[in-house]
Amino acid sequence: MSALDRALTIEDLRRMARRRVPKMFYDYADAGSYTESTYRENETDFQKIKLRQKVAVDLNNRTLASTMIGQPVTMPVAIAPAATGGMQVADGEIKAAKAAEKFGIPFTLSTMAVCSIEDIAENTTKPFWFQLYVMKDRGFIERLIDRAKVAKCSALVLTMDLQILGQRHKDIRNNLSTPPKFTPKSVWQMATRPAWAFGMLGTKRRTFRNIVGHVTGADDLSSLSSWTAAQFDPSLNWADVTWVKNRFGGPVIVKGVLDADDAAKAVDAGADAVIVSNHGGRQLDGAPSSIRVLPEIVDAVGNRTEVHLDGGIRSGQDVLKALALGAKGTYIGRPMLYGLGAGGEAGVTRALNIIQKELDITMALCGERDVNNLGPHNIYSNDLVRRQGY
Ligand code: GLV
Repeated sequence: MSALDRALTIEDLRRMARRRVPKMFYDYADAGSYTESTYRENETDFQKIKLRQKVAVDLNNRTLASTMIGQPVTMPVAIAPAATGGMQVADGEIKAAKAAEKFGIPFTLSTMAVCSIEDIAENTTKPFWFQLYVMKDRGFIERLIDRAKVAKCSALVLTMDLQILGQRHKDIRNNLSTPPKFTPKSVWQMATRPAWAFGMLGTKRRTFRNIVGHVTGADDLSSLSSWTAAQFDPSLNWADVTWVKNRFGGPVIVKGVLDADDAAKAVDAGADAVIVSNHGGRQLDGAPSSIRVLPEIVDAVGNRTEVHLDGGIRSGQDVLKALALGAKGTYIGRPMLYGLGAGGEAGVTRALNIIQKELDITMALCGERDVNNLGPHNIYSNDLVRRQGY
């Protein structure tokens, strides 16, 4: 039995990744902003929701197949956009995209990925989704949207909650950069992860390839991190959603909504779906968990658009709880990054298999055969959800 086969939970994959990935990149994934309270609550709030067991139901012919923004998915779980996939393992985003494609779920490439839009398009056959950060250099953003169109991306995921970067203490302490700076500390971190280092030596993809070579002022790698930090547009507003949608001409999913009024504004601006998200607890520390606010956002806009959720999903049970509270789809970011660190493409496939099996068995034990029939009747109206009106 391989080490990956022995991983039975996402937590097992996380521990494997921590042993294999240099500390600065592992820490980048396993971090929230400031006190990390929102990061923690994204996970712990799921545990407060209790499932309703039902018996004596015919459990033959179960299905997890569904749709997200009208596109078929083998289970309602997409890969979230996450920076540094290609620093968890060489060519990480290509590996994750291949795993998602074979599995039949959407892969979302981050603007801040190591592998570029073109890298993913060349190495996959089905359309993927592209996550967009709006930056001050609107000419660059127009070209980025156009590149996503040329690559036949079937949706844009527009992130609204990172006009200003939340402070993650670990990244500052680790002096994080992509590619890594060669200081005695970073060399030590990489040298103690020889398989990782060997993989990195074998690839040319070691920087932010959606950006490098596509903008002036960011060709020199040493200036790249300051360029990106200075580039996020603090004036981003709802009119930009419409602007992006018109430029792209396809579905736009608005990510980073945590408030019912904001969700309504996103829909008014043309969002084809909203993702309830606090950026994995990496932005506004002290904000509520995604699952806590999901019901009020479903109440506000669920009849006008699809509501998706990311943040804190570590198991198929978590997926089921989000669907029961009205999400049409969910996203996994860290489980994908841990899968990459633990075993590249096979590690992501393992993460997806773990979540799929947990979702299927949990759904069955709730007395359900079809993931599309999940609803508030599958959970107890505990404190967390009662306050939201269920
Ligand atoms: C970027 O999306 C980050 O959270 O670091």
